[in-house]
Amino acid sequence: MAATSSASILLFMLAAVASSAAGNFYQDFDVTWGDGRGKILNNGNLLTLSLDKSSGSGFQSRKEYLFGKIDMQLKLVPGNSAGTVTAYYLSSKGSTWDEIDFEFLGNLSGDPYILHTNVFAQGKGNREQQFYLWFDPTADFHTYSILWNPQRIIFSVDGTPIREYKNLESRGVPFPKSQPMRIYSSLWNADDWATRGGLVKTDWSKAPFTASYRNFNAEACVWSNGGSSCGNNNNNNKGSSGAAAWMSQQLDTTSQQRLKWVQKNYMIYDYCKDSRRFPQGFPPECSVA
Ligand SMILES: *[C@@H]1O[C@H](CO)[C@@H](O)[C@H](O)[C@H]1NC(C)=O
Repeated sequence: MAATSSASILLFMLAAVASSAAGNFYQDFDVTWGDGRGKILNNGNLLTLSLDKSSGSGFQSRKEYLFGKIDMQLKLVPGNSAGTVTAYYLSSKGSTWDEIDFEFLGNLSGDPYILHTNVFAQGKGNREQQFYLWFDPTADFHTYSILWNPQRIIFSVDGTPIREYKNLESRGVPFPKSQPMRIYSSLWNADDWATRGGLVKTDWSKAPFTASYRNFNAEACVWSNGGSSCGNNNNNNKGSSGAAAWMSQQLDTTSQQRLKWVQKNYMIYDYCKDSRRFPQGFPPECSVA
């Protein structure tokens, strides 16, 4: 008995070490622009981006990923954030790139942020869905997740799915599945369109504007030297088959109900319902529930 419990305590301690190592921004990210406006703090546990009148800032992951379950906690620019955009996304390179986007459009104090989402495949996007959130995203950190496997992309907020983009290659819809992507984030000024369609401008007297990031976690296939390795990053959550569970994860009944709840109560724009934009008919993925 004593031997068993000390073995399980040891396992618990090893697990704790692995998950704290997963969140180190020094190890996983580079601040790539902004001339000191992006900062890694608290021994690598916190990253902040800021924006003022002369520049925004941004960071990117050191690794490239081909499929994964990627979580990040964000706390968005508080107060009057009108005109600011915090983009957090995955993207590959080249003219036929793939991209999976979260973009947070700021607002006047007390008015709701818009969470804008999009999926690009082979250089083509135009698949916007926008949401309000059911909480104030500036008051605390919340978890924004992308599950990306060969069958689907699921966007989630605090574990609640808000959007699913299925692999419908069988119907001629391109799906991101062969180009590795990096994680990017940036805080920038877009007051020509972001807030109420550009009507509300950035109030530079409130600058600098700051967004914060913590608790990055990727259970993912890491791309290097033209190949992908899914085996040796931590928290890989292997199922009994030996493959990572997220590789074939789909929405269970409860998650489907929550997705419907978000789409019914918080979705404010859906390209699949914008008939003025598609007078010749909606894209094929729009007719699949
Ligand atoms: C900002 O608030 C206005 C008024 O409530 C709302 O119409 C708009 O969708 C909000 N969000 C953005 C990003 O404009």
